[in-house]
Amino acid sequence: MMYESEGNNLSILAEFTALAGSLQGSNLNEDVRLKASAVTRSLLSALELPFERIMQDVVMNPPTLMAIRMGVQLEIFTQVSQNPEGITLQTIVEKTGASPILVDHQTAKDNIICADNMISPQSPDSAASMCCRVCQAARCTDIQALSFDYGNGRSNGGSNNLSLNKLVLILETSAPPKLQSSFAKNNNHVLSSVKDTPFQLGCNTEFSYFEWLGKNPDLARDFHQWMTLKQNATPSWLDWFDIENHLAEDFNAEASDVLFVDVGGGEGQYVQGLKEKFPDAPGRLILQDLPQVISAVDSPPTSVELASHDFFTAQPIKDARAYFMHWTLHDWPDEQFQSILRHIVDVMEPEYSNLIIHETIIPDTNCDLPSACMSVMMIIQVAGFERSEKQWRELLESVGLSKVVFHQPPISGEGIIEAMK
Ligand SMILES: C[S@@+](CC[C@H](N)C(=O)[O-])C[C@H]1O[C@@H](n2cnc3c(N)ncnc32)[C@H](O)[C@@H]1O
Repeated sequence: MMYESEGNNLSILAEFTALAGSLQGSNLNEDVRLKASAVTRSLLSALELPFERIMQDVVMNPPTLMAIRMGVQLEIFTQVSQNPEGITLQTIVEKTGASPILVDHQTAKDNIICADNMISPQSPDSAASMCCRVCQAARCTDIQALSFDYGNGRSNGGSNNLSLNKLVLILETSAPPKLQSSFAKNNNHVLSSVKDTPFQLGCNTEFSYFEWLGKNPDLARDFHQWMTLKQNATPSWLDWFDIENHLAEDFNAEASDVLFVDVGGGEGQYVQGLKEKFPDAPGRLILQDLPQVISAVDSPPTSVELASHDFFTAQPIKDARAYFMHWTLHDWPDEQFQSILRHIVDVMEPEYSNLIIHETIIPDTNCDLPSACMSVMMIIQVAGFERSEKQWRELLESVGLSKVVFHQPPISGEGIIEAMK
């Protein structure tokens, strides 16, 4: 009601415009930034008509993804990211060999990657010649340009260097459209087989996601590098969880000389982080994953033992102080979840060994959007999902664990679930 008069209409527009301008490059504290971002989403839902909303989600999002992929494929993001002072369209064309027509079209001010602030066009006149038109990086250009050069660690750029995006492209484009057929095939029941998800239909494979990665080593390396990126993007559990109290303090070398086993630990960035934060912590540190993952670990963590282990078989390390799992159980339906944990429970020393699961604990109300999206991705790819406190507790107790304690990080992000037997 408040905004119905013409004067008020104009004033809200001016307020929004000024607010958007003042927030560019602002340094809000993390709590406020996340909450403001959620409020902004509800603001948008209040402003959009239902039809516009559906158009955005169903019709406009796919072309946005395609525009991003074109920006990656034509190396527009890479070139802009590598030239912080700005780069002319002419130079992009000369350096990449991409079609001048496509580069011109994709970098036009009203095209998606500029309009959505993925790069900034510095020259407003799209009629000007390509040697005058300059593009500069915007806030998310670098992340769009990111790719891996496995020979020399991380790097940006290079036409043979787009593998991160290759994996994302395959997953984004192939599995989601098959969701309906996959559910129809399962009579709209919960997907309970890792070999019968939209992923199998989309990628035309009979293998589960992790088996498929095992047969595609380049994509598997993308996947594991991508996992390591994610760790840097969220607050680290090492900064808010009382590790000393829960791990090192009661370490009993007579029970076992192993302090920490990172089960399904991928590249080992979590166990490496632990070692760096607590260099003097007692006991052995072990990284376990499938043989093909362990043999391909890119930069083996220092002072950590690497061990091939399939977590559907007997756990070889007995009575360790802690068995740690990050983003591993959400990859599995309940039946496999229980089977993985039973092997760990079998070797846990009662009242001493701690199971530490670092995963999302879906709240009963006000679930944040990233967790909700991740849950959908897990359903599509692996028939897993993110679980609520009640679901975690029931599953953990069903395999003989007790003393289940939930810890949430101070602002947002994944929690810690501890359990003992
Ligand atoms: C989502 S990734 C998480 C990796 C790591 N914990 C992290 O947070 O970066 C899941 C991990 O489970 C591993 N995995 C899948 N099946 C496995 C199995 N049968 N035995 C052991 N590890 C397995 C994968 O290789 C992968 O490293």
